[in-house]
Amino acid sequence: MTLRLAHASCPAVCIIRPHAALSAAPSGLTACHGGYYLSVSMAMTNSVTGMELVTDLLPESERGHAPDNMHDIPFGTLFTDHMFSMTYSDGRWHDPCIHPYRPISLDPAAMCLHYGQGVFEGMKAYRNGEHVLLFRPADNIRRLNRSAERMVMPRVDEDATRYYLKCLVSIERAWIPPQPGCALYIRPTMVAVEPKLGVRAANKYLFFIVLAPVGPYFKEGFKPVRLMVSTSDARAANGGVGAAKTMGNYAAGLRATKLAEGAGCKQVLWLDACERKFIEEAGTMNVFIKFDDELVTPPLTGTILPGITRDSVLVLARDWGLTVNERRVSIDEVVEGTGSGKVEEMFGTGTAAVITPIGELLYQGKDYRVGNGEVGSLTRRLYDELTGIQYGTHPDPYGWVVEVE
Ligand SMILES: Cc1ncc(COP(=O)(O)O)c(C=O)c1O
Repeated sequence: MTLRLAHASCPAVCIIRPHAALSAAPSGLTACHGGYYLSVSMAMTNSVTGMELVTDLLPESERGHAPDNMHDIPFGTLFTDHMFSMTYSDGRWHDPCIHPYRPISLDPAAMCLHYGQGVFEGMKAYRNGEHVLLFRPADNIRRLNRSAERMVMPRVDEDATRYYLKCLVSIERAWIPPQPGCALYIRPTMVAVEPKLGVRAANKYLFFIVLAPVGPYFKEGFKPVRLMVSTSDARAANGGVGAAKTMGNYAAGLRATKLAEGAGCKQVLWLDACERKFIEEAGTMNVFIKFDDELVTPPLTGTILPGITRDSVLVLARDWGLTVNERRVSIDEVVEGTGSGKVEEMFGTGTAAVITPIGELLYQGKDYRVGNGEVGSLTRRLYDELTGIQYGTHPDPYGWVVEVE
Protein backbone atom coordinates (compact mmCIF):
# COMPACT_ATOMS: atom_id res chain seq x y z
CA MET A 1 0.00 0.00 0.00
CA THR A 2 1.36 3.42 -0.78
CA LEU A 3 -0.23 6.78 -0.28
CA ARG A 4 1.15 10.10 -1.43
CA LEU A 5 0.72 13.06 0.86
CA ALA A 6 2.55 16.16 1.96
CA HIS A 7 4.74 15.57 4.97
CA ALA A 8 4.45 18.31 7.58
CA SER A 9 8.16 18.52 8.31
CA CYS A 10 9.64 18.45 4.83
CA PRO A 11 8.16 20.30 1.88
CA ALA A 12 7.93 17.29 -0.39
CA VAL A 13 5.60 14.57 -1.46
CA CYS A 14 5.90 11.47 0.69
CA ILE A 15 4.98 7.83 0.35
CA ILE A 16 3.56 5.98 3.33
CA ARG A 17 4.33 2.29 3.43
CA PRO A 18 4.97 -0.36 6.07
CA HIS A 19 8.26 -0.17 7.90
CA ALA A 20 10.99 -1.93 5.95
CA ALA A 21 11.55 -4.41 8.75
CA LEU A 22 7.97 -5.68 8.53
CA SER A 23 6.78 -7.86 5.70
CA ALA A 24 2.99 -7.69 5.76
CA ALA A 25 1.14 -4.67 4.48
CA PRO A 26 -0.88 -2.65 7.00
CA SER A 27 -4.62 -2.79 6.65
CA GLY A 28 -5.00 0.95 6.44
CA LEU A 29 -3.64 4.25 7.52
CA THR A 30 -3.71 3.36 11.20
CA ALA A 31 -0.15 2.30 10.61
CA CYS A 32 0.97 2.91 14.21
CA HIS A 33 -1.18 0.00 15.34
CA GLY A 34 -0.18 -3.62 15.16
CA GLY A 35 3.53 -2.80 15.15
CA TYR A 36 3.62 -0.95 11.83
CA TYR A 37 5.65 2.18 11.37
CA LEU A 38 4.83 4.96 9.02
CA SER A 39 7.66 4.96 6.56
CA VAL A 40 7.87 8.23 4.71
CA SER A 41 9.74 8.10 1.46
CA MET A 42 10.38 11.57 0.17
CA ALA A 43 10.01 12.08 -3.52
CA MET A 44 12.34 15.07 -3.30
CA THR A 45 15.23 14.27 -5.56
CA ASN A 46 18.22 16.56 -5.20
CA SER A 47 18.95 18.21 -8.51
CA VAL A 48 22.72 18.00 -8.01
CA THR A 49 23.06 14.42 -6.81
CA GLY A 50 19.92 12.89 -8.27
CA MET A 51 19.44 11.13 -4.93
CA GLU A 52 16.13 10.54 -3.22
CA LEU A 53 15.93 10.97 0.55
CA VAL A 54 14.01 8.13 2.18
CA THR A 55 12.59 8.57 5.68
CA ASP A 56 11.61 5.70 7.94
CA LEU A 57 9.94 7.39 10.87
CA LEU A 58 8.70 6.11 14.20
CA PRO A 59 4.99 6.61 14.83
CA GLU A 60 4.25 9.86 16.65
CA SER A 61 3.18 7.91 19.74
CA GLU A 62 6.67 6.41 20.07
CA ARG A 63 8.62 9.63 19.71
CA GLY A 64 10.12 11.54 22.60
CA HIS A 65 10.93 15.19 23.20
CA ALA A 66 13.48 17.32 25.03
CA PRO A 67 13.20 16.69 28.78
CA ASP A 68 12.35 19.44 31.27
CA ASN A 69 15.45 18.82 33.39
CA MET A 70 17.97 19.71 30.67
CA HIS A 71 20.41 21.13 33.20
CA ASP A 72 20.74 17.71 34.90
CA ILE A 73 21.76 15.95 31.68
CA PRO A 74 25.49 15.81 30.99
CA PHE A 75 26.40 17.30 27.60
CA GLY A 76 26.09 14.87 24.71
CA THR A 77 24.61 11.89 26.54
CA LEU A 78 21.00 11.97 25.32
CA PHE A 79 20.05 11.42 21.67
CA THR A 80 16.89 11.98 19.66
CA ASP A 81 14.62 9.40 18.01
CA HIS A 82 16.01 9.57 14.48
CA MET A 83 19.30 9.94 12.64
CA PHE A 84 20.43 10.45 9.06
CA SER A 85 22.78 8.12 7.19
CA MET A 86 24.10 7.52 3.69
CA THR A 87 26.88 5.36 2.30
CA TYR A 88 29.68 5.85 -0.20
CA SER A 89 30.93 3.15 -2.53
CA ASP A 90 31.84 2.81 -6.21
CA GLY A 91 32.82 6.47 -6.19
CA ARG A 92 29.46 7.95 -5.14
CA TRP A 93 27.16 8.63 -2.21
CA HIS A 94 23.89 6.72 -2.15
CA ASP A 95 20.88 5.70 -0.06
CA PRO A 96 20.38 8.86 2.00
CA CYS A 97 17.90 7.95 4.72
CA ILE A 98 16.41 9.34 7.92
CA HIS A 99 15.59 6.41 10.18
CA PRO A 100 15.25 5.54 13.88
CA TYR A 101 18.44 6.13 15.93
CA ARG A 102 20.25 2.82 16.15
CA PRO A 103 23.73 1.32 16.58
CA ILE A 104 25.79 1.05 13.44
CA SER A 105 27.26 -2.27 12.46
CA LEU A 106 30.95 -2.24 11.48
CA ASP A 107 33.25 -4.97 10.26
CA PRO A 108 36.09 -5.39 12.84
CA ALA A 109 38.48 -4.60 9.98
CA ALA A 110 36.66 -1.32 9.14
CA MET A 111 39.50 1.05 8.30
CA CYS A 112 38.29 3.86 10.58
CA LEU A 113 38.91 1.57 13.55
CA HIS A 114 42.52 0.98 12.56
CA TYR A 115 43.78 4.03 10.71
CA GLY A 116 41.57 6.78 12.10
CA GLN A 117 40.07 7.95 8.82
CA GLY A 118 37.15 9.90 10.21
CA VAL A 119 35.94 13.49 10.38
CA PHE A 120 33.04 15.19 12.06
CA GLU A 121 31.32 18.51 12.73
CA GLY A 122 29.58 20.20 15.62
CA MET A 123 26.75 22.65 15.17
CA LYS A 124 23.49 23.57 16.92
CA ALA A 125 19.80 24.20 16.26
CA TYR A 126 18.24 26.87 18.47
CA ARG A 127 14.61 27.29 19.45
CA ASN A 128 12.82 30.64 19.56
CA GLY A 129 9.19 29.84 20.29
CA GLU A 130 7.98 27.98 17.22
CA HIS A 131 11.00 29.05 15.18
CA VAL A 132 13.96 26.70 14.71
CA LEU A 133 17.24 28.33 13.75
CA LEU A 134 20.59 27.03 12.50
CA PHE A 135 23.74 29.14 12.79
CA ARG A 136 25.97 29.31 9.68
CA PRO A 137 25.24 25.69 8.67
CA ALA A 138 26.87 26.11 5.26
CA ASP A 139 30.16 26.95 6.98
CA ASN A 140 30.08 23.72 8.98
CA ILE A 141 29.40 21.64 5.90
CA ARG A 142 32.17 23.42 4.02
CA ARG A 143 34.55 22.73 6.90
CA LEU A 144 33.47 19.08 6.91
CA ASN A 145 34.53 18.86 3.28
CA ARG A 146 37.86 20.57 4.02
CA SER A 147 38.47 18.07 6.83
CA ALA A 148 37.46 15.21 4.52
CA GLU A 149 39.85 16.38 1.81
CA ARG A 150 42.73 16.54 4.30
CA MET A 151 41.99 12.95 5.35
CA VAL A 152 41.61 11.78 1.72
CA MET A 153 37.90 11.12 2.15
CA PRO A 154 35.09 11.93 -0.30
CA ARG A 155 33.32 15.29 -0.26
CA VAL A 156 29.60 15.47 0.41
CA ASP A 157 27.36 17.56 -1.79
CA GLU A 158 26.92 20.72 0.29
CA ASP A 159 23.41 21.67 -0.86
CA ALA A 160 22.10 18.13 -0.47
CA THR A 161 23.69 17.74 2.96
CA ARG A 162 22.18 21.02 4.13
CA TYR A 163 18.83 19.76 2.95
CA TYR A 164 19.17 16.39 4.73
CA LEU A 165 20.25 18.17 7.89
CA LYS A 166 17.30 20.55 7.80
CA CYS A 167 14.87 17.65 7.24
CA LEU A 168 16.30 15.74 10.19
CA VAL A 169 16.18 18.78 12.49
CA SER A 170 12.66 19.57 11.35
CA ILE A 171 11.48 16.01 12.07
CA GLU A 172 13.17 16.18 15.51
CA ARG A 173 12.03 19.70 16.41
CA ALA A 174 10.30 18.48 19.58
CA TRP A 175 13.77 17.61 20.88
CA ILE A 176 15.05 21.19 20.72
CA PRO A 177 14.99 22.36 24.33
CA PRO A 178 13.26 25.70 24.91
CA GLN A 179 15.22 26.59 28.05
CA PRO A 180 17.69 29.50 27.83
CA GLY A 181 21.23 28.34 27.05
CA CYS A 182 20.00 24.99 25.72
CA ALA A 183 20.01 23.79 22.11
CA LEU A 184 20.02 20.74 19.88
CA TYR A 185 23.63 19.73 19.19
CA ILE A 186 24.16 18.34 15.69
CA ARG A 187 26.96 15.88 15.00
CA PRO A 188 27.57 15.08 11.30
CA THR A 189 30.23 12.33 11.06
CA MET A 190 32.02 10.50 8.25
CA VAL A 191 34.03 7.31 8.77
CA ALA A 192 35.87 4.81 6.57
CA VAL A 193 34.02 1.49 6.71
CA GLU A 194 35.81 -0.60 4.09
CA PRO A 195 37.11 -3.78 5.78
CA LYS A 196 40.84 -3.90 5.06
CA LEU A 197 44.09 -4.14 6.97
CA GLY A 198 46.69 -2.13 5.14
CA VAL A 199 47.22 1.61 5.12
CA ARG A 200 45.61 3.50 2.27
CA ALA A 201 42.51 5.64 1.82
CA ALA A 202 39.36 3.52 2.05
CA ASN A 203 36.89 3.28 -0.78
CA LYS A 204 33.75 2.80 1.37
CA TYR A 205 32.42 5.39 3.83
CA LEU A 206 29.46 5.96 6.08
CA PHE A 207 28.15 9.47 6.71
CA PHE A 208 25.66 9.98 9.50
CA ILE A 209 24.12 12.78 11.54
CA VAL A 210 22.96 12.35 15.13
CA LEU A 211 21.29 14.94 17.35
CA ALA A 212 21.62 15.54 21.08
CA PRO A 213 19.61 18.04 23.15
CA VAL A 214 22.17 19.86 25.30
CA GLY A 215 22.54 22.45 28.03
CA PRO A 216 25.76 24.40 28.67
CA TYR A 217 29.03 22.58 27.83
CA PHE A 218 30.47 23.49 31.22
CA LYS A 219 27.98 22.67 33.93
CA GLU A 220 28.86 25.85 35.84
CA GLY A 221 27.38 27.86 32.94
CA PHE A 222 28.75 31.30 32.00
CA LYS A 223 31.49 31.37 34.65
CA PRO A 224 35.25 31.90 34.21
CA VAL A 225 37.21 28.67 33.79
CA ARG A 226 40.76 27.78 34.77
CA LEU A 227 43.01 26.34 32.04
CA MET A 228 46.25 24.40 32.32
CA VAL A 229 48.95 25.34 29.82
CA SER A 230 50.45 22.10 28.52
CA THR A 231 54.23 22.21 28.37
CA SER A 232 54.68 18.51 27.66
CA ASP A 233 52.11 17.26 25.13
CA ALA A 234 51.29 19.15 21.94
CA ARG A 235 48.02 18.97 20.02
CA ALA A 236 49.09 19.48 16.42
CA ALA A 237 52.24 20.11 14.43
CA ASN A 238 52.96 22.04 11.23
CA GLY A 239 51.90 20.01 8.23
CA GLY A 240 49.70 17.77 10.39
CA VAL A 241 45.94 17.59 10.75
CA GLY A 242 45.31 20.25 13.42
CA ALA A 243 43.04 22.26 11.12
CA ALA A 244 40.85 19.23 10.39
CA LYS A 245 38.06 18.13 12.70
CA THR A 246 39.30 14.58 12.86
CA MET A 247 39.03 12.09 15.70
CA GLY A 248 42.77 11.61 16.35
CA ASN A 249 43.24 15.27 17.33
CA TYR A 250 40.92 14.74 20.27
CA ALA A 251 42.48 11.42 21.29
CA ALA A 252 45.90 13.10 21.20
CA GLY A 253 44.66 15.67 23.70
CA LEU A 254 43.26 13.27 26.26
CA ARG A 255 46.42 12.69 28.30
CA ALA A 256 47.05 16.38 28.90
CA THR A 257 43.33 16.93 29.54
CA LYS A 258 43.41 14.28 32.25
CA LEU A 259 46.39 16.00 33.87
CA ALA A 260 44.60 19.34 33.63
CA GLU A 261 41.46 17.97 35.27
CA GLY A 262 43.58 16.45 38.02
CA ALA A 263 44.98 19.95 38.65
CA GLY A 264 41.48 21.43 38.92
CA CYS A 265 41.40 22.89 35.40
CA LYS A 266 38.62 22.63 32.82
CA GLN A 267 40.69 22.26 29.66
CA VAL A 268 44.21 22.43 28.26
CA LEU A 269 45.64 25.58 26.71
CA TRP A 270 47.83 24.27 23.89
CA LEU A 271 51.14 25.78 22.83
CA ASP A 272 52.76 25.31 19.43
CA ALA A 273 54.40 21.92 18.94
CA CYS A 274 57.71 23.33 17.75
CA GLU A 275 58.84 25.77 20.45
CA ARG A 276 56.11 25.37 23.11
CA LYS A 277 55.98 29.14 23.08
CA PHE A 278 52.97 30.40 21.18
CA ILE A 279 49.33 29.97 22.20
CA GLU A 280 47.24 27.85 19.82
CA GLU A 281 43.80 26.92 21.17
CA ALA A 282 42.14 25.41 24.22
CA GLY A 283 40.34 22.06 24.34
CA THR A 284 37.34 22.50 22.07
CA MET A 285 37.68 26.28 21.83
CA ASN A 286 39.63 28.92 19.94
CA VAL A 287 41.17 31.52 22.22
CA PHE A 288 41.01 35.32 22.37
CA ILE A 289 43.03 37.70 24.54
CA LYS A 290 42.17 41.34 25.15
CA PHE A 291 45.30 43.42 25.74
CA ASP A 292 44.44 47.03 26.67
CA ASP A 293 42.61 48.06 23.50
CA GLU A 294 43.70 45.23 21.20
CA LEU A 295 41.76 41.96 20.75
CA VAL A 296 44.03 39.14 19.62
CA THR A 297 43.55 35.57 18.46
CA PRO A 298 46.17 33.18 17.06
CA PRO A 299 46.28 33.06 13.25
CA LEU A 300 45.06 30.11 11.17
CA THR A 301 48.39 28.61 10.19
CA GLY A 302 47.14 25.03 9.87
CA THR A 303 47.58 23.81 13.44
CA ILE A 304 44.29 25.06 14.92
CA LEU A 305 40.69 24.48 13.97
CA PRO A 306 39.22 27.41 12.00
CA GLY A 307 36.31 27.94 14.35
CA ILE A 308 33.05 29.35 13.06
CA THR A 309 32.46 31.05 16.41
CA ARG A 310 36.01 32.48 16.17
CA ASP A 311 35.18 33.94 12.77
CA SER A 312 31.88 35.35 14.07
CA VAL A 313 33.64 37.04 16.99
CA LEU A 314 36.20 38.57 14.60
CA VAL A 315 33.37 39.98 12.47
CA LEU A 316 31.48 41.38 15.48
CA ALA A 317 34.55 42.91 17.13
CA ARG A 318 35.71 44.54 13.88
CA ASP A 319 32.21 45.91 13.32
CA TRP A 320 32.28 47.40 16.81
CA GLY A 321 35.44 49.29 15.89
CA LEU A 322 37.84 47.33 18.07
CA THR A 323 41.43 46.81 17.03
CA VAL A 324 41.49 43.14 16.17
CA ASN A 325 44.59 41.19 15.21
CA GLU A 326 45.17 37.61 14.18
CA ARG A 327 48.76 37.28 15.33
CA ARG A 328 51.02 34.96 17.26
CA VAL A 329 50.86 35.49 21.02
CA SER A 330 53.51 33.94 23.26
CA ILE A 331 52.59 32.49 26.60
CA ASP A 332 55.24 34.83 28.08
CA GLU A 333 53.42 37.86 26.67
CA VAL A 334 50.22 36.62 28.31
CA VAL A 335 51.60 35.77 31.74
CA GLU A 336 53.52 39.07 31.86
CA GLY A 337 50.34 40.84 30.80
CA THR A 338 48.36 39.24 33.63
CA GLY A 339 50.91 40.69 36.07
CA SER A 340 51.00 44.16 34.53
CA GLY A 341 47.25 44.34 33.97
CA LYS A 342 47.74 44.56 30.19
CA VAL A 343 45.78 41.33 29.75
CA GLU A 344 42.28 42.50 30.61
CA GLU A 345 40.22 39.55 29.40
CA MET A 346 40.59 36.12 27.90
CA PHE A 347 37.88 33.88 26.51
CA GLY A 348 37.38 30.73 24.46
CA THR A 349 34.95 30.40 21.54
CA GLY A 350 33.19 27.33 20.16
CA THR A 351 29.81 25.96 19.18
CA ALA A 352 29.57 23.89 22.37
CA ALA A 353 31.40 26.34 24.65
CA VAL A 354 29.81 29.45 23.01
CA ILE A 355 31.89 32.25 24.64
CA THR A 356 33.61 30.91 27.75
CA PRO A 357 35.41 33.38 29.99
CA ILE A 358 38.92 32.31 31.04
CA GLY A 359 39.63 33.43 34.59
CA GLU A 360 42.90 31.75 35.44
CA LEU A 361 45.90 30.01 33.82
CA LEU A 362 48.04 27.32 35.42
CA TYR A 363 51.48 27.49 33.81
CA GLN A 364 54.61 25.71 35.02
CA GLY A 365 53.00 25.13 38.40
CA LYS A 366 52.01 28.81 38.95
CA ASP A 367 48.59 30.41 38.76
CA TYR A 368 48.02 33.57 36.75
CA ARG A 369 44.77 35.43 37.21
CA VAL A 370 43.26 37.08 34.14
CA GLY A 371 41.95 40.59 34.90
CA ASN A 372 40.08 40.39 38.18
CA GLY A 373 39.14 36.75 37.55
CA GLU A 374 35.54 37.74 36.73
CA VAL A 375 33.68 37.87 33.42
CA GLY A 376 35.04 40.84 31.43
CA SER A 377 32.76 43.40 29.79
CA LEU A 378 33.80 42.54 26.22
CA THR A 379 33.38 38.83 26.93
CA ARG A 380 29.86 39.47 28.19
CA ARG A 381 28.97 41.77 25.32
CA LEU A 382 30.14 39.18 22.78
CA TYR A 383 28.25 36.41 24.57
CA ASP A 384 25.03 38.47 24.63
CA GLU A 385 25.31 39.51 21.00
CA LEU A 386 26.28 36.11 19.63
CA THR A 387 23.65 34.17 21.56
CA GLY A 388 21.10 36.89 20.72
CA ILE A 389 21.73 36.31 17.01
CA GLN A 390 21.78 32.53 17.39
CA TYR A 391 18.46 32.44 19.28
CA GLY A 392 16.90 35.05 17.01
CA THR A 393 16.37 37.65 19.74
CA HIS A 394 18.87 40.12 18.19
CA PRO A 395 18.90 41.30 14.57
CA ASP A 396 21.17 39.30 12.27
CA PRO A 397 22.70 41.76 9.80
CA TYR A 398 25.19 39.13 8.60
CA GLY A 399 22.70 36.54 7.33
CA TRP A 400 24.19 33.90 9.64
CA VAL A 401 20.92 32.43 10.85
CA VAL A 402 18.93 30.04 8.71
CA GLU A 403 15.39 29.11 9.68
CA VAL A 404 14.28 25.47 9.48
CA GLU A 405 10.73 25.20 8.15
C1 LIG B 1 39.62 21.81 18.60
C2 LIG B 1 38.54 22.81 18.44
N1 LIG B 1 38.87 24.11 18.30
C3 LIG B 1 37.95 25.05 18.12
C4 LIG B 1 36.59 24.74 18.10
C5 LIG B 1 35.57 25.81 17.86
O1 LIG B 1 35.03 25.70 16.56
P1 LIG B 1 33.54 26.21 16.26
O2 LIG B 1 33.48 27.61 16.72
O3 LIG B 1 33.40 26.09 14.79
O4 LIG B 1 32.64 25.33 17.02
C6 LIG B 1 36.21 23.40 18.28
C7 LIG B 1 34.78 23.03 18.26
O5 LIG B 1 34.29 22.63 17.26
C8 LIG B 1 37.19 22.42 18.44
O6 LIG B 1 36.86 21.12 18.60
